[in-house]
Amino acid sequence: MSALLTIIASFSLIGLGDNNPYKKCEDSLTSNGKDYKFFNLTKLSDDRYDKLPYSVRVLLESAVRNCDNFLVKEDDVKKILDWEKKSE
Ligand SMILES: *[C@@H]1O[C@H](CO)[C@@H](O)[C@H](O)[C@H]1NC(C)=O
Repeated sequence: MSALLTIIASFSLIGLGDNNPYKKCEDSLTSNGKDYKFFNLTKLSDDRYDKLPYSVRVLLESAVRNCDNFLVKEDDVKKILDWEKKSE
């Protein structure tokens, strides 16, 4: 059982999990004939995103990319989006 959990955990760590609730934000761009996948946070259509400092945006992108509702939960993403409210 714990070996199975370890396998599931490592799959989500390298982003192979398919449970990402933010999959709709996945975008790709082509540069020098190579395709790159990334999470386009503009597609969150969330006003709070524009107000986040750059460093917090980087943190948010990582949380969205790794969100699997197992190690990283949607609630974690929402907490980061609420950074402004809680940053006093
Ligand atoms: C991200 O998504 C927005 C809205 O769909 C789009 O206008 C923008 O071009 C995208 N950004 C990139 C880098 O593809």
